[in-house]
Amino acid sequence: MVNSNLVIIKMGGSVITFKDKPLMPNIDGIEKIANVVTELRKRYKIIIVHGGGSFGHYWSVKYDMHTKPFPYSDEGIAVVHESMIKLNHILIDRFIKFNMKPYTLQPSTFVHNGMADLNRVNEFVNIMTDNDLIPVTFGDVIHTSGNNFSILSGDTIMSMLSTMLHPQYCIFTTNVDGLFGDFEKGDLIPKIYLDENGEFISSKGNTCSSVKTSNSSFDVTGGMKRKIFEAIRIVKSGSPVYLVNGFKPERILDIINNRDYIGTCIRLDQQVK
Ligand code: IPE
Repeated sequence: MVNSNLVIIKMGGSVITFKDKPLMPNIDGIEKIANVVTELRKRYKIIIVHGGGSFGHYWSVKYDMHTKPFPYSDEGIAVVHESMIKLNHILIDRFIKFNMKPYTLQPSTFVHNGMADLNRVNEFVNIMTDNDLIPVTFGDVIHTSGNNFSILSGDTIMSMLSTMLHPQYCIFTTNVDGLFGDFEKGDLIPKIYLDENGEFISSKGNTCSSVKTSNSSFDVTGGMKRKIFEAIRIVKSGSPVYLVNGFKPERILDIINNRDYIGTCIRLDQQVK
């Protein structure tokens, strides 16, 4: 059963920063999505999750920090976290300029030892969305257990939140149009159907018998591969997942308004739409 007035959106690091330029926000990318969120919030409760792009990944690579829990250098932990707060601040500032009321929830307030706390999440989200606040959280470096910390990606937070809250729309924005069978040939896969075990059943449009993914060496959390892994968990829990180009966020409105759209939708076989 989906929560029919909830939309969770991931603002990908490749949209909100220039991924190849260290510590450079992409203000235009942030504002384009902020503009669409101002429309969406008239009809839906919104939760925003954002990635790290050239803020988070730049320092994570420098300090050799990954998703695996490990006693990483204290300096690295401090610097990566500060860098994410800086990016979050830039994004929040823009949202406020667009007359929205964003409120940052650092992941450490609701994730303990790699697990999201359902009560905390429910409590936060209910209070905020009832008050017209937009909860915003982000990929971060986070304590796990003992002296260990790990990089928690925004994609993993998307699946933590979505499997708990069951949004009607779970939308990942990136700098590409969606998932491609073959990127070079430009064959975008519009729909992928899974069974309730998360196994691939079929795809529509360009056929694909398996889903090809690619990784960038600059991406410590695993790029498209991680996204698909998390998307499968979300779809199994009942919410359809959409992969959309964040530089063309009007496509999010197309999805929600039931119009034809460019992007990839991953859903259970029996979900008709
Ligand atoms: C990365 O979050 C967070 C850190 C590296 C600290 P994501 O993995 O969600 O970031 P993007 O969207 O891929 O840039």
